[in-house]
Amino acid sequence: MQVARTRDDLRATRASLGTVGLVPTMGFLHDGHLSLVDVARREHDAVVVSIFVNPTQFGPGEDLDSYPRDVDRDLTLLEKAGVDLAWVPDVEDVYPVGSCTRVRVEGPLTAVLEGASRPGHFDGVATVVTILLGVVDPDALVMGAKDAQQVAVLRHVLRDLGIAVDLVVGPTWREQDGLAMSSRNVYLTPAERAAAPVLRRSLTTVERLYAAGERDAETLRSLVRRNVSAEPAGSLEYVSVADPVTLAELERVGPEGALVSLAAHFGRARLLDNVTLPAAVTPPPSRVQ
Ligand code: PAF
Repeated sequence: MQVARTRDDLRATRASLGTVGLVPTMGFLHDGHLSLVDVARREHDAVVVSIFVNPTQFGPGEDLDSYPRDVDRDLTLLEKAGVDLAWVPDVEDVYPVGSCTRVRVEGPLTAVLEGASRPGHFDGVATVVTILLGVVDPDALVMGAKDAQQVAVLRHVLRDLGIAVDLVVGPTWREQDGLAMSSRNVYLTPAERAAAPVLRRSLTTVERLYAAGERDAETLRSLVRRNVSAEPAGSLEYVSVADPVTLAELERVGPEGALVSLAAHFGRARLLDNVTLPAAVTPPPSRVQ
């Protein structure tokens, strides 16, 4: 595996790689990231993984400084996973001195859910991903379904900016007890870790109720609120039953289905999870408006 630090190093190695799937990460890798490497490898000659804790997507008071980092361990895992090229840039390699260009994603898609809780977050994500795509020039961008709104926003960005790259979405990877894998799970105390699978359980209950014919969105939201509030270690920030493309809240789940997503706090950890109803992976790009 080659490891590049600067844009020039990256480009020099990338030139000989054929078709490339890019898995962008902020490091502190887990099996969910490695599953995306497998997804990328299935359809491409080579896999490039970037490891970069992107400062522009963190708001004031968020965990930029304490975000878990272990680049040596990450590189060992990537090497074992058969990654061809890891890009581990410094801040100045991504945002050169004097950098003044930002991608701003306006409209309802970024005004809700994570966008409402973390103002400016998706501008930072859109900016860094646009830079990564510009430098790596991959054929596919491979992302995880756990960050469903991030995927929806980036789908828009790719279309709006005419960036010709396939957006491939890999499934959420889970611990044995159902907790969605996340680098931030490391913040959980043992008691919080034991309590956190309530999130997955509440979403599974939603799936069951939907399968039994329930279509009223508020009934599904209330079910999640009730389940999570029964767990004293956790506090639900939001639960949403929304159109999977526009993320507009629904009154009833219709033929387009729904994205059921939530954010919850367990001590220092802010955890996300979601399911789609019915269980489909990605909405067709033609529905992006
Ligand atoms: O999902 C993440 O880890 C980050 O938001 C991403 C896509 C790597 C951009 O920094």
